Amino acid sequence: MHAHTHNPLPEERGHSPEPECCCMVLGKAQEEVRLAQIAPDVWSLLTLHGAGNSRFAPRLPNRMLAFRLRDGTGKQCLVLLNTVWPDHETDQPFEAIRTLSRTLDAPVRFVLNPGPEHHLSLAAYARAFPEARVCVAEGRLQRENPALCAMDNVELMAVGDALPELSRQGLHVHVWDGFMEQSLANRAQFRFGARRGTAEPTVFWHEASGIFVNGGHGWFYWAEGDKQPWLIRRLLKPREGAIVWSPVHYSVHDPKRCIASAQRILDWRFEHLVDLHAGADKPIKGRAHEMAEELIRPMLDEDWDSLPFPVEPLEIPEGKVTGGDWKSYR
Ligand SMILES: [Fe+2]
Repeated sequence: MHAHTHNPLPEERGHSPEPECCCMVLGKAQEEVRLAQIAPDVWSLLTLHGAGNSRFAPRLPNRMLAFRLRDGTGKQCLVLLNTVWPDHETDQPFEAIRTLSRTLDAPVRFVLNPGPEHHLSLAAYARAFPEARVCVAEGRLQRENPALCAMDNVELMAVGDALPELSRQGLHVHVWDGFMEQSLANRAQFRFGARRGTAEPTVFWHEASGIFVNGGHGWFYWAEGDKQPWLIRRLLKPREGAIVWSPVHYSVHDPKRCIASAQRILDWRFEHLVDLHAGADKPIKGRAHEMAEELIRPMLDEDWDSLPFPVEPLEIPEGKVTGGDWKSYR
């Protein structure tokens, strides 16, 4: 078990975190692409993408994070989380990542997918960083993106504590068990008639910064002062200053396993929360564990009626790939 220690964000230590600036819009690099250090050993690259991977959908913030880890011998490495759509013309954000990696003397060793979405850019990162291990959860991405899963440096993560060697270096990766895709978000990706199956939102706790990252689309945080597009308000029913479950992305097919996973998250001693889709400089500071507990509590209490998504039997997709790689979240 890990001792509970107070992990200050940079400004609590007497200096400000670097502000996040929007470096890439819809896969096009803006003037300067660089990762901003937002907390001890954590860098962020803020971009705007189209919801559901469409240029015509509302633009939403989508950030990639880079964590610096040190192994038992003090050797450093970088771990990328949630890759963003690259601009091949300017070779970004690969160039910006290489610059950070050189500056810190920390090679990119891992590229982590945050769940069953946001996987379409991973192949480009697998090629750009051939020495890195690209990790995706078993399940939906095997069905959706078999070409990615067949790449030499791509590997599958099982549910639970997925990468114990990273846990030992203070970055915990947990693949949440028991969820399946819900029909609306499935169809909203224009994969009409697609068969549904398991979904594996993946969550992260970085000890050195005290930051929790809610991957996948199971929860959303609407930061105070952020504007949310009408469609997002309509679908997700976010509340300003609160974390809410998404009513449209997943349902639960195995309550027991889902609860065990949820409990594991609350066993983590995080303090802050970075939502991959929250606006610039909008982490939850200090209250994240309390807010997560409030959100998760009804699930632990098996109060399914009060949760905005159904518990239903798993539909197992058979035979062919359901959606191919045409439309699915970048
Ligand atoms: Fe997303």
